[in-house]
Amino acid sequence: MNAKPIAVFDSGLGGLTVLQALRARLPHEDFLYFADTRFLPYGEKPEAFLRERGVRIAERLAERGCKALVVACNTATAAAAESIRAAIDLPIVALEPGVKPAIALTQSRVIGVLATTRTLQSERFRRLVDAHGQGIQVIAQPCPGLADAIEEAGTESATVAALLDAYVTPLRVAGADVVVLGCTHYPWVAEAIAARMPPGTCLLDTGEAVARQLERLLAGAGLQGQGGGQVRIATSGAPQQVAATVDRLLGQKMQVEHWEP
Ligand code: DGL
Repeated sequence: MNAKPIAVFDSGLGGLTVLQALRARLPHEDFLYFADTRFLPYGEKPEAFLRERGVRIAERLAERGCKALVVACNTATAAAAESIRAAIDLPIVALEPGVKPAIALTQSRVIGVLATTRTLQSERFRRLVDAHGQGIQVIAQPCPGLADAIEEAGTESATVAALLDAYVTPLRVAGADVVVLGCTHYPWVAEAIAARMPPGTCLLDTGEAVARQLERLLAGAGLQGQGGGQVRIATSGAPQQVAATVDRLLGQKMQVEHWEP
C-alpha cells in the first residue's frame, strides 16, 4: 500500500475528463493534476518543444514524489511518450486515440478521428493506423483551435459551435459511424459532436480504458493507495483563471496552485 499521489498531466483541463474516470475506478488513490496552461494549446506546437516540455514536467512530478504518471494528453503522448519513459522510472500510462476499438466497432467501415494536428501528424498515429486500419477508411480530422476555445470561450460558445460545424461535418459526409475523441478536451463537447452526427453514432474516448490500465499497473507494482481520494490541481498559468474554468467544467470549486516545473 502506498500513500503517494498519482500525477496526471495535460496541456490544460482536457485531462480532467480522464481524471474523472480515474477517480471513479480508483477511489482510494490521491491525485496531483498538472495543467500546463501557460503553453496551451499543445496541438500546433513543434514536436521537439513538446518532447522537451513533456520530459521536464514528468521529471519534476517524479521529484515531487508521485508514484505513477498518467499522460492525459494525446498530443503529449504522440510527441514525448518514449522520451518520458526513458527519463523516469515510474509506472506510466500514456493516452492515445482509440483507433483500435473504433475499428472493432464500425459497421460502415468508416471511422472518424478528431484530434490535434500534432497528434494526427505523428509517427505514432501513423503506426497505429497502419497496424489496425486495413480495409477501413480512417478520416483523420485535425481540430486547430478547438481545445483552447473549449477552455477560453466555453463549451456552449458560438466559437466552439462554429469549429465543431467545420470539423464534424466531413465525418458525417464520409459516413463514419464511430468517432474517436482523440484529444482529452473533446469529451467536454461530446453531446455537441453527437448532435452533428446521425443518431446511433458511437463516440469513443479512452478514459475508462486508461483507468483499467492504471489499476493493473499499480496492482502489478504493489502500489495501490489507501488514501481518501484527495485531488490537488496545479497550473503553470494563472491559478484564479484556471480555478474559474475548473468550476465551469466540473461544476465544482477547487483550489488551484501555481507551479512551474
Ligand atoms: N488535451 C490535449 C490532447 O489530448 C491537447 C489539447 C491541446 O493542447 O492542443 O491532445
